[in-house]
Amino acid sequence: MLDKTKKDWWKSAVFYQVYPKSFQDTDGDGFGDLRGVIGRLDYLEKLGVDGIWLSPVYASPQKDNGYDISDYRGVDPRFGTMEDMEELIARARERGISIIMDLVLNHSSDRHPWFLAAKADRESPCHDYYIWRDGTPDTPPNDMTATFGGPAWTWAPETGQWYFNMFSPWQPDLNWENPALRRELYDMIRFWVDKGVEGFRLDVIDNIGKTPDEKITFNGPHLHEYIRELRREAFREDTLVTVGEAWSADVETAKRYANPDGSELSMIFQFEHTTLDQKSKWEPIPLSLVKLKECYDRWQNGLRGEGWNSLFLNNHDLPRTVSRWGDDGKYRVESAKMLAAMCHGMQGTPYIYQGEELGMTNIRLPIEQYDDLEIKNAYREQLEQGRPEEDILSAIYARGRDNARTPMQWSAGPNAGFTTGEPWLPVNPNYTEINAVAALADPDSVFYFYQKLIALRKAYPVFRDGDFQLLEAEDEQRFAYVRETEREALLVVCNFTAETLPDVCPERFRGAEVLLGNYPDPAGEDLRPYETRMRYVKK
Ligand code: GLC
Repeated sequence: MLDKTKKDWWKSAVFYQVYPKSFQDTDGDGFGDLRGVIGRLDYLEKLGVDGIWLSPVYASPQKDNGYDISDYRGVDPRFGTMEDMEELIARARERGISIIMDLVLNHSSDRHPWFLAAKADRESPCHDYYIWRDGTPDTPPNDMTATFGGPAWTWAPETGQWYFNMFSPWQPDLNWENPALRRELYDMIRFWVDKGVEGFRLDVIDNIGKTPDEKITFNGPHLHEYIRELRREAFREDTLVTVGEAWSADVETAKRYANPDGSELSMIFQFEHTTLDQKSKWEPIPLSLVKLKECYDRWQNGLRGEGWNSLFLNNHDLPRTVSRWGDDGKYRVESAKMLAAMCHGMQGTPYIYQGEELGMTNIRLPIEQYDDLEIKNAYREQLEQGRPEEDILSAIYARGRDNARTPMQWSAGPNAGFTTGEPWLPVNPNYTEINAVAALADPDSVFYFYQKLIALRKAYPVFRDGDFQLLEAEDEQRFAYVRETEREALLVVCNFTAETLPDVCPERFRGAEVLLGNYPDPAGEDLRPYETRMRYVKK
């Protein structure tokens, strides 16, 4: 178990993201719940993770699966009760697993009492908790559009004003310029810290300083001021882990967010590596491995000593990486392991998204079976723009968020063991083959590969401390890098193709111990399809 009284314990940790709606249902309503998470703690302990990032379980109308909160201090009855939450925190902690809660501080639900009061009365103290502009119903303040489709301004006839909504009309943006609002949020965070929560993931944190009149949504003028205040007022304990979601971040801004002086956050999620293979969200292009390597190299070396990386391949907003950069057919198992090794070999804190450790894949559904508001709006808007339906669907199959949100595949039983009822989103039909029972029974499964990666990170300091040296930067097919400290050196080699290729092995690693590989005899001459190897030298 990690010593979590140490300030930087999270640098040695591995986290696991639970998307509770799809994790485990226990009451047959087809919707995952907190008792389901409690029931699976043994599984997570076996995997070896140190913490759970729990996607939102707050009271919510679920327009955006909980990223629209109507009560920040309440648990949504579909997920359970506050007692269930307290039990989860306690039982997880017994196993050395911290609970990291998702915090949505950029916007609330339009059903939040603050917003209801704000909308009903311009004189309400809550009115200024949101962003309003006067006007007439036919002319919005400007032409900004919302991430999930439609305009970023919604008319409220009650007050005769427009309110700003960066994501959807059901998610009005909070006005961080208002000190009383900020105080409410800090008090709410303390409420959860007092319950034993050990960290937070901050949803779209780079948006909180927005100034819509200038059409600035990311990196507003007071953004870092707000984050520093948040740290001082709400994240008072040095041992809390905080990870901000920042789609706009580059290496330079990341150094501010994750400043080692501790004045802002522990680390951020940045997304550069996830956007290299798309022209825009709905226009995928082939991945250039050379570009991917350049990107990782820049982040690994850029933040060295000046910040801290998060390491992730998947989350609830991204398609499954094995379907994206790997091969989810013939070489599914090999490529899922190879991608895991590539990611976990680097410097930073790894996050595993539920089902990734089973090598779960994307899904293709008829349009009416999707749930995600982003998918539905994108489909409608692109049809209206005249894009052929076939193209739209293939973009959705490649990039839609529901790819990652299908229920967790626990067993080959009905509904993959996720629910005894009707699942809220269809289970991927490949559950009969890809499921946790099968994985736990097979010593060569993707699950045990992740388990080994987690154990290696704990056993060898080079994973946490080593520098990063990219090899063969121009190679289009293989990703190889060295991690090194004064005492240890680690070589990670990954074949990103279905071809057999020559190995990459600098002289000093010849004959070195192979810590991990994804083929039975990992020290072969060549690199087989999607083969990965980790070689290790103690100096
Ligand atoms: C973040 C969440 C995403 C959500 C959005 C709006 O990007 O990860 O799921 O829809 O913020 O809250």
